[in-house]
Amino acid sequence: MKPAARRPLLLCALAAAAALSFLLVAPPPPLAAHLSSLLLAFPASPYAGRPKLLFLLAGQSNMAGRGLAPHPLPAPFRPHPRVLRLAASRRWVVAAPPLHADIDTHKVCGLGPAMPFAHRLLEDAGSGESSLVLGFVPAAVGGTRIWMWRLVNDFRADLGIPDLLVIQVGLASGEGNYTDIVREGQKNIKLPNVILVDAIGLPLQDDQLHLSTEAQLWLGDMLGQAYLKFNSSTDSRQ
Ligand SMILES: *[C@@H]1O[C@H](CO)[C@@H](O)[C@H](O)[C@H]1NC(C)=O
Ligand SMILES: *[C@@H]1O[C@H](CO)[C@@H](O)[C@H](O)[C@H]1NC(C)=O
Repeated sequence: MKPAARRPLLLCALAAAAALSFLLVAPPPPLAAHLSSLLLAFPASPYAGRPKLLFLLAGQSNMAGRGLAPHPLPAPFRPHPRVLRLAASRRWVVAAPPLHADIDTHKVCGLGPAMPFAHRLLEDAGSGESSLVLGFVPAAVGGTRIWMWRLVNDFRADLGIPDLLVIQVGLASGEGNYTDIVREGQKNIKLPNVILVDAIGLPLQDDQLHLSTEAQLWLGDMLGQAYLKFNSSTDSRQ
């Protein structure tokens, strides 16, 4: 299979592992002077040093986010003090869309599914889980080839977490004739702790490739529900 360059795969290693959060909250290396303007733009969060439920946002343009931002921003996309993002400067900052602006730098980034996902989790936790701090690690880059996103086993091996939860998003669009082939491949991954949330049928933008803002909102909510269902069915997870 020869993948099309711009196929907007969404592969969320929306990976939740408490141990991993400690790994990534290690103090950042000394910052170079040229990063100071970025730090001013993204002030560090008061929750920066707290353990986080970490999610790696992996994939292509639809995970990076291309949804147009309306004014005012709908509530599920708005920043929340307990939702953080690892900036390219390796600092934890309050997550505010576009989350991939300093990662997917060759395109104009917009709204993706991560903020609505976070709001779904916070909503579910309510006041009972007041210690919940979410940490997003943006890693999606539009136009990357699918083979660059070595799938589940490689992710798990790289991170040393063999049971890492991976929530992948069923491909909703694509260029050329490969969409169905990729979708079949996604459905046929028979590994533990891999969940498929299907984006097919969600509204696309005029380019027929990118999910609309409304679609990203629904998708984020669906991903949140999938995570919560998984979490509530797994006793050993924290
Ligand atoms: C897709 O398939 C159709 C029919 O099999 C073919 O005519 C067309 O050239 C294909 N398009 C691409 C981009 O491969
Ligand atoms: C996951 O499940 C545990 C155990 O039931 C619960 O304490 C925790 O709040 C849940 N996490 C989230 C993010 O809902």
